[in-house]
Amino acid sequence: MQDKLLPRTGLWGLIKSGKKSREAVIHWSRWLEIDLQALRANLKALRELLPENTAVLAVIKSEAYGHGLEEVARVLSQEGVYGFGLSEPEEAFRLRKAGLALPLILLSGFEPHWLPEILRLRLIPAVTSLGMLESAADFTRRKGVSLEIHLKFDTGMHRLGLEPEDLKKALEILRDNPQLKVTGLMTHLACAERPEDPLTRKQLALFQRLRASISRSLPSIRYFHAANSAGIIFLRGAGGNLVRPGIGLYGSYPSFRARARVKLRPVMTLRARILELRNLKAGEPLGYGPLYRARSPRRIALVPVGYDDGYPRSLSNRGFAWLRGRRVPVVGAVSMRCLCLDVTEVEGVRAGEEVILLGGPEEEVPVDELAELAGTISYEILCALGRRLRRVFRDV
Ligand SMILES: Cc1ncc(COP(=O)(O)O)c(C=O)c1O
Repeated sequence: MQDKLLPRTGLWGLIKSGKKSREAVIHWSRWLEIDLQALRANLKALRELLPENTAVLAVIKSEAYGHGLEEVARVLSQEGVYGFGLSEPEEAFRLRKAGLALPLILLSGFEPHWLPEILRLRLIPAVTSLGMLESAADFTRRKGVSLEIHLKFDTGMHRLGLEPEDLKKALEILRDNPQLKVTGLMTHLACAERPEDPLTRKQLALFQRLRASISRSLPSIRYFHAANSAGIIFLRGAGGNLVRPGIGLYGSYPSFRARARVKLRPVMTLRARILELRNLKAGEPLGYGPLYRARSPRRIALVPVGYDDGYPRSLSNRGFAWLRGRRVPVVGAVSMRCLCLDVTEVEGVRAGEEVILLGGPEEEVPVDELAELAGTISYEILCALGRRLRRVFRDV
């Protein structure tokens, strides 16, 4: 959800700014704080792992993994990225409307009826099948226009992409349709966080072979790209001159092993204010199910965040939050708009106090850890929260 009242300068800026904005934050009981300085720092940290002159295509599809499409694009364009990776023209429409002129690549191909918008918004689609190549060729020939495309090959993930055997036919189509300008060759790695995996090695070798054979026929190709965040961290960009980081930009690690290689900072912090406190006597149940029963007297804080906000229900009795410098466990069922924290060990907690439910300036509640507890991946948690909660941007 994009909130019009959100300040560009962050919560601190907001509090200093106009009365209307101040009221907005004071009345929020839960919100996402988006640390744009951390975003800048993460891009820098990832760049430091790469050979010089490697260009960056920042992946900002799905609302910039929940962090806010326009704001993330604005900051990263200030930091000199080459362009952005998206999945739908609607995202591109918003970015163009916001005044962004940088290259926008549709990473997952397109549907034929998107082509007029692709032209209008000056998008670069990845072409992931012969059918797609043919529809782009037909459309541009009929309209008498040219179109920049990247060819995406499947090298072993068996999801999206032209098959290596399609190469000959693809080159024929391209020869007959010079209005299609191929400026990029790409693939996607299934498990770049395991560089030693035979699949990763097979994918990289096949991509090299494709690159060698295609470069001769299509000298217009300027960009070769295979690396996501894991490909940057574990494979130094996988030999490409363009890389496509997503999750790393947002401060989450593609695997626990990645922590030893790069220091990233969480960009998203979920904060909420305690609504109410109550005491449980030994033996008393709590919430739905009841999934929790107190073994001894407990002090419980109710926090107005639930699965409707994107906080996973699977963190019932498993998650944790950060309050006054320590971890406090989630107890009982996470419900639609409420979860309970056991704050017995924290002295003097009061209603209205702030807790960190995810992220934090010192990564107090690592999203990777929560994701593991929830039986999912950080991507899912970030996207889900970001779709539903209001954001406060901080760039100080
Ligand atoms: C084609 C492609 N490249 C790069 C990325 C970014 O991956 P990550 O977020 O793991 O860095 C994605 C994300 O799904 C993708 O689909």
